[in-house]
Amino acid sequence: MYNVVLFFHLLGATIWTGGHLILACTILPKVLRDKDVAFLSRFESSYEKIGIPALVIQILSGLYLSYTLLPDLSQWFNFTNPISRLVSFKLILLACTFLLAIDARLRIIPNLSEKNLTALAYHIIPVTVLSVLFAFVGISFRTGWLF
Ligand code: HEM
Repeated sequence: MYNVVLFFHLLGATIWTGGHLILACTILPKVLRDKDVAFLSRFESSYEKIGIPALVIQILSGLYLSYTLLPDLSQWFNFTNPISRLVSFKLILLACTFLLAIDARLRIIPNLSEKNLTALAYHIIPVTVLSVLFAFVGISFRTGWLF
């Protein structure tokens, strides 16, 4: 069961991190250059259909994997244990992603125009960096890079 969940976790990671890298490295520069809000909105609305389910799968599968590795929830924020340190990093990354996403959804996207495109870029870039960090912290469970 663990390996099946891990497979879906990795599949979700390719969509979440991959989609954000495409957005930040290819779509965003074009949108900022041409001030093409409509192009960005089209990408966002098609990506959202697969990106949001992928994030939900990441969270559910990630919580399952963490619980299997560390069934004692009181240990999840115990920074002296390497596994719990990585679980904490994942949860901190998740909280940062949520804060940025909520701010973008409530404050920037409803009034998206040529004038506030740069503000949106200041959200897309950190969310992309966070998505890469999610993958980096993820493989550290096996490689021990962050132990
Ligand atoms: C978009 C969010 C996320 C991405 C992109 C992501 C990505 C990854 C990747 C690439 C791995 C490496 C798998 C391997 O080495 O085989 C991994 C492992 C892991 N992730 Fe995530 N992850 C995300 C969210 C979460 C969340 C929210 C949690 C829960 C706290 C979590 C918990 C874990 C655990 C426990 C592992 C270790 C599995 C193992 O190596 O056996 N992840 N993640």
